[in-house]
Amino acid sequence: MVVVSVRRAFGALFLQPLISQCRLQSKFLWLTVDTEAMLTGVVCETWLQPEIQNTSLAPEISNLGLSSEGFLKETARLCGYDTPMDSNYTGKWKDSDPTQKDIQVLQGMAKWAGQQQDNGSAKRQTWQQFAKPDNGNWLGARVQYAATHPTNLTAVGPMRILDFGCGGATDILALKRFFSVKTEDTLCLDIFQVQNENVSAFMIDASTDDAYRQSLETILLENEGTVHVAISMVTFHHIVPGQRPSAFNFLNRVLADGGMFLMAEWDNSVLPDRTIYYDLEHILMGVVFQNTAPSQPEQLNLGTTYLSVDGWKKEAEQEGLRYSASRSKLGGLGPRAQANHSRHMRDFDIVFERGL
Ligand SMILES: C[S@@+](CC[C@H](N)C(=O)[O-])C[C@H]1O[C@@H](n2cnc3c(N)ncnc32)[C@H](O)[C@@H]1O
Repeated sequence: MVVVSVRRAFGALFLQPLISQCRLQSKFLWLTVDTEAMLTGVVCETWLQPEIQNTSLAPEISNLGLSSEGFLKETARLCGYDTPMDSNYTGKWKDSDPTQKDIQVLQGMAKWAGQQQDNGSAKRQTWQQFAKPDNGNWLGARVQYAATHPTNLTAVGPMRILDFGCGGATDILALKRFFSVKTEDTLCLDIFQVQNENVSAFMIDASTDDAYRQSLETILLENEGTVHVAISMVTFHHIVPGQRPSAFNFLNRVLADGGMFLMAEWDNSVLPDRTIYYDLEHILMGVVFQNTAPSQPEQLNLGTTYLSVDGWKKEAEQEGLRYSASRSKLGGLGPRAQANHSRHMRDFDIVFERGL
C-alpha cells in the first residue's frame, strides 16, 4: 500500500532527482518499484476490486459454469493478497500497466479452470455452446420483435439484412431463418474473409483509417439504401476511434428508408471504469474454454474502447442515425435500464432508424 502510493505520488518527477542525490537510496527505490510492479499488474488489481467482484466477476464466473467462490479464492492465492493494493485504481489503461505477474496469474487460472473441468466440478463447454446456446434463435426473435413493434418497419423492396462484424455468422444466419431472406440479401461483413456459402460475405480493410473508409465506400456502391435490418453484436468496442465514424456513417447509408440498425454493446458508465475488466473478459474466454492464457503482458491491452450507452448513442447520431426509443425497449426497458438490470456485463441493445 505504502509502496504503491510512493509510485503514484512521486512518479518520474520526484523520483529522478531523489535518485541522483543518493545512489544507495536510488538502488533501493528502483528495486522496490520493480518488485511492486511485478507484484501488482492489472489482473489482481481488477479482479480483487470489491465492486467489480460483486457486481461483475462473480456472476460472470457462475455463468461460465465455474464456482465463483473457488475462482476468487484461487485468484487471491495466485495474487498473494486478497484486497487491491492500488488505492488509485481507475480501471483505465492509461493509469495501469500489465506485467509478468498478470501472465503468471492468468496462466495459473487457466490451469485451475482445466483441473476443475477435468475433475467434473465445473462444466466443460465450448465458447459457441456458451455464447450461442440456441444457435442465435433468441436474437432472431429479439430483432423480429424490434422490427415489428410498436409498428412494422416501413422499408420496401426485397428484405435485406446485414451483420457488421459478423464473426462466425451464427447471428446473421439466425436472422436469415427468421425473416426468410435469400443468401444474396444476407450480408456478412468482417475484417477477415468469412467462409460461409449461406451468406454474402464482404471483407473490410481495417489496416488504416483511410483503407477502412474506402472499403466501406466500395461495399456501398452496390448496397446503399437497400438494407432493412442491420445488426452489430459486441463489435463496436473493437473499432478504433479513427474508424468508428466511418462505421456508423456506413450503417446509416446502407439502410433503406424505414430500415433499422440494432447494436448490442456493454455499457461503461460505472466506476471503476470497466475498460481493463472488459479487456480481461475477452482473455477470460480463453482461460475458461481453452484453458489458455497470454504469454506476454502486452497482449492484455486490446486497444478497445468502451463507451457508455449515451456515448454510443451520441456517436451514432453524429453520423445521422436516429435513435428509436420505442424499438429499443427490451422487456419494457430502455438501453440504460437494460444495462443496470443485466449488471455483470452491463449488456444492452439500442435501435436506430433511418428516415423520418
Ligand atoms: C466479439 S466478436 C463478435 C462477433 C459476432 N458479432 C458475435 O457476436 O458472435 C467481434 C467481431 O468484430 C470484428 N471486428 C473487429 N474489428 C472490427 C472492425 N474494425 N470493423 C468491423 N468488425 C470488426 C471481429 O473480427 C469479430 O468478428
